[in-house]
Amino acid sequence: MAHSCGRLASGLALVLIAVSVTGPAKADAGIDDTPLHSDATVSASADGPTIDPNIYGQFVEHLGRGVYEGIWVGPDSAIPNVRGIRSDVVAALRRIKVPVILWPGGCFADGYHWRDGIGSSEGRPRGLNAAWSKSPETNAFGTHEFMDFLDQIGAKPFVSVNVGSGSVREADDWLRYMTAPQDSAPGEERAANGRVQPWEVPFIGVGNESWGCGGNMTADTYAAAFRHYAAFLRTYSGERARLIAVGADTDDYAWTDRVMALAMNWRPQPTPLALTSDRPLMWGLSLHFYTFAGNDWHAKGRNVDFDENGWTAALARADLTDELIRRHSEIMDRYDPEKRVALAVDEWGGWFQSEKDAPSQLYLESTLRDALIAAKSLNIFNRHADRVRMANLAQMVNVIQSLVLTRGAAMVVTPTYHVFDMYKPHQGAKALPVRVETPDYVRGNVRLPSIDLSASRDASGKVHVTIANLDPARPNRLSIHLNGGRWRRATAQTLTADRIDTRITFDKADPFVPRPLPVRLAGSDVEIVVPSKSVTVLEAE
Ligand code: AHR
Repeated sequence: MAHSCGRLASGLALVLIAVSVTGPAKADAGIDDTPLHSDATVSASADGPTIDPNIYGQFVEHLGRGVYEGIWVGPDSAIPNVRGIRSDVVAALRRIKVPVILWPGGCFADGYHWRDGIGSSEGRPRGLNAAWSKSPETNAFGTHEFMDFLDQIGAKPFVSVNVGSGSVREADDWLRYMTAPQDSAPGEERAANGRVQPWEVPFIGVGNESWGCGGNMTADTYAAAFRHYAAFLRTYSGERARLIAVGADTDDYAWTDRVMALAMNWRPQPTPLALTSDRPLMWGLSLHFYTFAGNDWHAKGRNVDFDENGWTAALARADLTDELIRRHSEIMDRYDPEKRVALAVDEWGGWFQSEKDAPSQLYLESTLRDALIAAKSLNIFNRHADRVRMANLAQMVNVIQSLVLTRGAAMVVTPTYHVFDMYKPHQGAKALPVRVETPDYVRGNVRLPSIDLSASRDASGKVHVTIANLDPARPNRLSIHLNGGRWRRATAQTLTADRIDTRITFDKADPFVPRPLPVRLAGSDVEIVVPSKSVTVLEAE
């Protein structure tokens, strides 16, 4: 007899899970592929918060082939490029509307000196990348090239300044260089280097992982550093600088508590008569969380040729994203009940053992499992859109969970890329509350809701529901009830593959291209059968 238990997915979405007692999935033997059944409700009448487009943001670091080859090939390259930036990558990223990119790191950022990356290419120092195995750093890709890249794809910058080995002065000088008017010394220098108009720099990361590679600081030390930087960091172009403070690694809740307590406000303990300001010093607080196959940083699990245990372990860890966001948000709520400070999940993604390249390059081949990790994580961010207003996939090109992979002149898009493409209608749409009753996918002692979804309504009134089916063997007959409305028409696209570890290759056609899925409409209900191990987007009116 089935029993049910409730688990509350925090934030907007209430996810009810009926625990199945059907025992472990039999995917290994390939036996039981009869469809399961799930019921979902989307509340059309209750608009939630806007899903900030920046939840679909990206992260690029000087690491491996992420920048050099992946983005920058130089103007003399035989690979088609515009001013040194490869055109195939730009075209792919434009298509999925990348809204914002974090750069130059990662750990690299706290060793980066921006002056090394401006001026004539011959004059730039040839350095060593201290963060990543002292590999050569030509500095050919610097501020101007990054901004040019953003212009070419239509994205905004999120620049991380050097706190660990830099200074307030160096960071302020960089902001002046980027944002001051032309008739100022920094503006003149920028113009002499080819850019007359100031750039907009809407997001500024104040250090990176200051608890680790960014300075080995305690929360109190970092909070003091953040307060100091915040007193001087501004943009000179009229736009308010949105500062993002270094937040926790994974489940370091004490860090979140301390940094919120000490650094959110100019005066943590205002007195009744003294000068004060009610605007938080920080626009956002970051969270870094990576998905491995398991919970051990030193044993991340295989990236390819993994078995069902590798599938389950990774998806179980990705599932923790919900709890992490909920618990960090609860702490933030204590200091900021109005949720003025965003939680910026500015490094996330599936990070497994590299198979072939030098391990320090962190180049990972991409499999169907990555698509499910992305779908689940993005659904979770959407459901927490009230607090999560920035997220950055690590790391866009050729590093960890990429959107595109390059090999010399060749480029392929990954299954993760297709997920971002399928999910792009959520950008800027109103989140809609969802509820789902779904059997668990069970393997060993892991139990996961087989269906995970999120929904939104865009400006034209279209509803999009994005659905991940985590069960590697069993399709799912999903009825989606629209509360407070009737469906008039609906279409769906789905992404799946033959095997859980199907991977993208350079020599075969892309096996992950989403294909149409039949949809049955009946008044306020829509029914689709989502394949096992799939990601689906339903568009309905
Ligand atoms: O994304 C790779 C590394 O992971 C980043 O440089 C660092 O910030 C994090 O630990």
